[in-house]
Amino acid sequence: MPVVEPTELLSLAVELVRKAAVGIAEQRTAAVTSIETKSTPTDPVTAADRAAEQLVVDGLAAARPGDLVLGEEGGFRPVGAEASPDAVRWLLDPIDGTVNFVYGIPAYAVSLAAEVDGVVVAGVVRNVVTGEEWTAVRGQGAWRDGERLRGSSVATLAGALVGTGFGYARERRREQAEVLLRLLPEIRDIRRIGSAALDLCAAAEGRLDAYYERGLNPWDRAAGGLIAEEAGLLVTGLRGEDAGEAMTLAAPPALHALLDDFLTPLHG
Ligand code: IPD
Ligand code: CA
Ligand code: CA
Ligand code: CA
Repeated sequence: MPVVEPTELLSLAVELVRKAAVGIAEQRTAAVTSIETKSTPTDPVTAADRAAEQLVVDGLAAARPGDLVLGEEGGFRPVGAEASPDAVRWLLDPIDGTVNFVYGIPAYAVSLAAEVDGVVVAGVVRNVVTGEEWTAVRGQGAWRDGERLRGSSVATLAGALVGTGFGYARERRREQAEVLLRLLPEIRDIRRIGSAALDLCAAAEGRLDAYYERGLNPWDRAAGGLIAEEAGLLVTGLRGEDAGEAMTLAAPPALHALLDDFLTPLHG
């Protein structure tokens, strides 16, 4: 099996994410006039989400035609005609923060990660508006625009600024609101930035002390999760489970333990 170099995967990811970000920025005015909804009436998708996904997949197909992609808008498929046995699986969120995009709130991002043998080995998240770009290669640290990142060292709930997010389904939101009702009095404050990928990158550089969210999809968390881990955070589910749909909790180890203890009983 040919060896894939994670740094080369990252270079390709960065190149494609930058191109997609340019396209998204150019299309904002036109794209927000064509909003459709998906899973619920609060779950938007625009022409720009679809165009950005296509642009990245076309770029992957040109560079690595035997690979696979799991993209929010197009699902799981080969990037080209047929997947090769040693395919890299790419995880793509073409716009993470579509609601912010629609409203012109400058917190939406392109997120792209490369997974080899079930392990995310490289990832990039780019804020389309500010141009901030976070990257990581497994084992080589997390970086923003040339600066090495370290997460927070806050170790108390009372001192913790915690990011979270809410899903699109009504029942999920009710449950998330109930958890928040219990957590908010115990912590410094909550931030709901509106992009899981940017939340994870914020935690990676200590703009948030921690982040948790239930209901994330692999494309929401793959790149940001690696970036947060490489910045020294623990990124898991509750009680040592892997991060996943049930929970993604990213925090420095001591704070992670406190949040795990606090959130576990609330998630039955
Ligand atoms: C959403 C954002 C949001 C999070 C939701 C995600 P989308 O992704 O990341 O912050 O709370 O769970 O679905 O739909 O904007 O790509
Ligand atoms: Ca979406
Ligand atoms: Ca998303
Ligand atoms: Ca999205």
